[in-house]
Amino acid sequence: MNAVTPHIKKDKKLHIMTWGCQMNVYDSAKMADLLAPLGFGLSDEAQGADLVILNTCHIREKAADKMFSELGRLHKQQKQETVANRPKMIGVAGCVAQAEGEQIMARAPYVDMVFGPQTYHRLPEMVAKAVRNKGGVIDTDFPIESKFDFLPTETAGQGPSAFLSVQEGCDKFCTFCVVPYTRGAEYSRPVSAILAEAQRLIDSGAKEITLLGQNVNAYHGAAENGQICGLGQLIEAVAKLDVTRIRYTTSHPKDMDDALMAAHRDIEKLMPFMHLPVQSGSNIMLEAMNRKHTRDDYLRVIEATRKATPHIAFSSDFIVGFPNESDKDFEDTLQLIRDVNFAQAYSFKYSERPGTPAASMAGQIPEDVKTARLAALQELLFSQQRSFNEGFIGKTIPVLFDRHGKLDGQLLGRTPHMQSLYVQDGTRNGQGMFGQIANVKINHVTTNSLEGVIV
Ligand code: 5AD
Ligand code: SF4
Repeated sequence: MNAVTPHIKKDKKLHIMTWGCQMNVYDSAKMADLLAPLGFGLSDEAQGADLVILNTCHIREKAADKMFSELGRLHKQQKQETVANRPKMIGVAGCVAQAEGEQIMARAPYVDMVFGPQTYHRLPEMVAKAVRNKGGVIDTDFPIESKFDFLPTETAGQGPSAFLSVQEGCDKFCTFCVVPYTRGAEYSRPVSAILAEAQRLIDSGAKEITLLGQNVNAYHGAAENGQICGLGQLIEAVAKLDVTRIRYTTSHPKDMDDALMAAHRDIEKLMPFMHLPVQSGSNIMLEAMNRKHTRDDYLRVIEATRKATPHIAFSSDFIVGFPNESDKDFEDTLQLIRDVNFAQAYSFKYSERPGTPAASMAGQIPEDVKTARLAALQELLFSQQRSFNEGFIGKTIPVLFDRHGKLDGQLLGRTPHMQSLYVQDGTRNGQGMFGQIANVKINHVTTNSLEGVIV
């Protein structure tokens, strides 16, 4: 840490709370990089911090509710703490800020700054303004300039496993989803900017890079020679750098192409794992969701990818209780899960999001039906996840250790298939293995994790 602007004294504390997707995790790291030259050093605690930023998620109602309860807690702290002769500052960033900027300021006037995912590159200016102003600063434009052109090249690094945003926004407009409204239109960064950032992450210790995008496999960035490059080619270029593992997320079934499948087949650094949300196994629901693919399209993509890379594992997202979902529609989803056999998955009850087409559809599903369907769906998914994990007992697999466990010496990491793994004794020949890839023999598994010993 702190390869950043070492000549600047970090005499102010910044605390960032991050909810939601990996894109928010990436944005939070960039906000810290942006504020480092102003003398802000990262703190693990909100208490005593000069500036607290909530980087929020709007994808489901619960995620937004959490933000307001956190703001209430922070307001109490703000009233008690005076940092450098002024109350601690509070900023709200991310997709709730984008969607509900004015309401946040009205409901929580003690907030100093509200800014969206496309304007946080102006954070240093906003902080200066907020210090001068008494009232709050709101910046939720969709500016013409791309924030990526204004983000600092100095980075504190993200550790052994780093995120790199390559594509942002979404033009798909699934009827349940706020992302096209909060993150804006699809945009792909140029290849050279991505490679330069990847190199900086590697220089600051990254062994694994995850290429991020709301629709990452729709990536179509300009290469140096002016040609348009897809995700498969981009991965090929990143693989030429001194990085050990490459991942990407999140993909859309409609944007799968042969080049990406070939990348999985040919590039060893590309991990054999694909997160490919399907949302539902019913064609009626997929149509109502405006997913632009059918159940069979999805199954065909899975089959073709497995043909190219037989050991690949799949993960997905599911929504239960979308308006008008019948028992038969739900059964179609369960059957799709049985047909694919997922290594892991995320599943959610449909949550009405204001302003999205599905929120005003007739046929909203009662909460108790959603709850029962989610339980049944998760039972099936968890049993698949457990069997997948059980297949590794006794095997030796390479693991990148990227987190410390709660107990002394305990290390946590990820397998090539994205399983969470821990070892009690994270040393080999007395050497700490944090940030390294080591072979681990698996001796115990649960639904959510693997345990083993370094060999
Ligand atoms: N309700 C429930 N889940 C949603 N998701 C997106 N919007 C909603 C919503 N309104 C889920 C989808 C998506 C994931 C990131 O969040 O499954 O793939
Ligand atoms: Fe949302 Fe659909 Fe776009 Fe994914 S593809 S971000 S679910 S609109």
